[in-house]
Amino acid sequence: MSVRRLDPVQPDNFAFTPANLVWAKETINKYPEGKQASAVIPLLWRVQEQNEGWVSRPAMEYVADMLGMSFIRVYEVATFYTMFQLSPVGKKAHVQVCGTTPCMLMGAEDLKKVCQRRIHAEPHHLSANGDFSWEEVECLGACVNAPMVQIWSDTYEDLTPESFEKVLDGFAKGQPVKPGPQNGRQLSAPAGELTSLTDASIYSKDRTFTRIETPPPAPPAAPAAPAASAPPSNAAKPVTATPETAPAVKSPSPEKTAEAPAALAKIEAKAKAAASPENAAERAAPRAESKPELLKEPKAGKGDDLKLIWGVGPKLEQMLHEMGVWHFDQIAAWNEPELNWVDQRLEGFHGRAERDKWIEQAKKLATGWRPDNAVGEKPGK
Ligand code: FES
Repeated sequence: MSVRRLDPVQPDNFAFTPANLVWAKETINKYPEGKQASAVIPLLWRVQEQNEGWVSRPAMEYVADMLGMSFIRVYEVATFYTMFQLSPVGKKAHVQVCGTTPCMLMGAEDLKKVCQRRIHAEPHHLSANGDFSWEEVECLGACVNAPMVQIWSDTYEDLTPESFEKVLDGFAKGQPVKPGPQNGRQLSAPAGELTSLTDASIYSKDRTFTRIETPPPAPPAAPAAPAASAPPSNAAKPVTATPETAPAVKSPSPEKTAEAPAALAKIEAKAKAAASPENAAERAAPRAESKPELLKEPKAGKGDDLKLIWGVGPKLEQMLHEMGVWHFDQIAAWNEPELNWVDQRLEGFHGRAERDKWIEQAKKLATGWRPDNAVGEKPGK
């Protein structure tokens, strides 16, 4: 942090306006007796607002008197927090350029060059006409729209040197442009086409979601089945993306950026269609069900470890047991109506069996196959 000193040129005195004085007294009264000093930051902020954007030494003394504090305590606060300006700032705009990593990577250095050319070579100096000043600040919390600047209470985002010049032109003319992204993007929506959550049905009000159960701890490794019956060992391993297999990351072009609101509208329209009465009727249509073979107890007094099926945790295993399902070969023998019958009875987990392909997994496990490496590996994954 740079050294922060009081401005060499100071006014003779400071006093709140009558309205601000009433506000200050009310603010101080919000704090318990003996804790009035806690109002120092709101009072200094109100000073800055009244005093054209900066805090003078007489103003600090005035606040210290109001709060019964020594001057040095108020001075410490005002010089510690960089939101308090200690010298006069531009009458029309004080530009705070974010210089933290995301903004710097996205072009903050070019924005600083604009400030140096149009305002002053050094930060915290007034432009020749006194209308502008600038400084570099730390992250202002709009990193997704980097690079950005803050002017007074508003942020101007997704800037290029050209659009930033237009922002400055607006302040110079007394007609500031609309705050927010300056590239047409909608708030912090993806800058380009949507790349995730693109399934329109997830926005439907009729969509139901099931709770995802935490996978159980991996069971101890079991000896591998004979090679003839075992699938290739890499069949159960998660696929690791290589440069060749990884999907290409698309850089949004300016045209794509401009299309972002249209892409959103398209998604919304699809979601609407998905929620239409015709589709609702289709969704509500009952699925054929038939009761599968169920057992009163496990064969030979011992059931299979159903938790080896990906997506089945202790709770689901318990529910399957209560239903009469104890073995992989029972699940492996289900047809679609039988799967639907079971699914209807898995309260809170509807859709899980189909989604995780339990039948397919159970067929593999019923052959005696077990993961080579039990850690995190389940059939079908
Ligand atoms: S890095 Fe610039 S707003 Fe966060």
